[in-house]
Amino acid sequence: MHEKQMREQGLSALEPTLLKIGGSVITDKSGELAARMQDINRLAQEIHDANIKNLIIVHGGGSFGHPIAQKYGINAGFKEESQRIGFAETHHVMTVLNGLFMDALIWREVPAVSVTPSSCILTKRGRIQCFEEAPLRAFLKMGFIPVTFGDAVLDVELGFTILSGDQLFSYIATRLNAKRIIIGVDVDGLYDSDPKIKKTAKMFKHLTLEELKKLQANFGKPTACDVTGGMFGKIAELIPAIEKGIPVTIVNASKPNYIYKTLKGEKVEGTLIEKE
Ligand code: IPE
Repeated sequence: MHEKQMREQGLSALEPTLLKIGGSVITDKSGELAARMQDINRLAQEIHDANIKNLIIVHGGGSFGHPIAQKYGINAGFKEESQRIGFAETHHVMTVLNGLFMDALIWREVPAVSVTPSSCILTKRGRIQCFEEAPLRAFLKMGFIPVTFGDAVLDVELGFTILSGDQLFSYIATRLNAKRIIIGVDVDGLYDSDPKIKKTAKMFKHLTLEELKKLQANFGKPTACDVTGGMFGKIAELIPAIEKGIPVTIVNASKPNYIYKTLKGEKVEGTLIEKE
């Protein structure tokens, strides 16, 4: 749909809040298909209690999407017949994880609607090339809470690939002119090194875009279980959104009430990244 049509139908200027819930929060990344049901239910309750209008939720794959995508080399594209079932399985387990989250939300009467990336997005060499976003905008306008996720998607050059929740998230934030971005992870914020490995890792309370770009070189390489780029890839994906002036808050979604408070605009421990 063209910009003009979207304007006419009141589908532009929605300025939503975007909430990303990392795969490591809602799954146990050291296992396979290991959902953290307690956290899923708690987060659904926090989202219900915060009662935010104009919200889009994106979640990651954790131990659902990543191990299967890795086993079949889905990220690198179509190379052999045997990968076809791997693509189907990766997409399927993502819909299973999404279903668990949807269940928890809808059971609490949150009007959440699942938006499946592989049905509305094509990538070109791993980057979003086309995204039929009018339904997403229309869901928002109708007062629904769209929930989408990192997924196995078709790629015009590679055949298929993996679209990270982070690329999707940053793309939606930029296209829909998000008011703010909240990233829920399983650590307290953004650190100068992996706080799970290095006890002395220092957390940044506030970063400007310029400081973030300088720090980028120091972030580690993807971990074994993460096919989409680890913390480095996640932060790099956010740069276009921050450049547009959208503030990003990174908080610990594994800690009770942090997402609730952040959604409500209350200050909690975490990292705030702003353009200037
Ligand atoms: C990955 O999504 C999705 C698949 C592997 C299919 P993300 O890259 O956003 O997931 P997390 O947050 O790192 O687990």
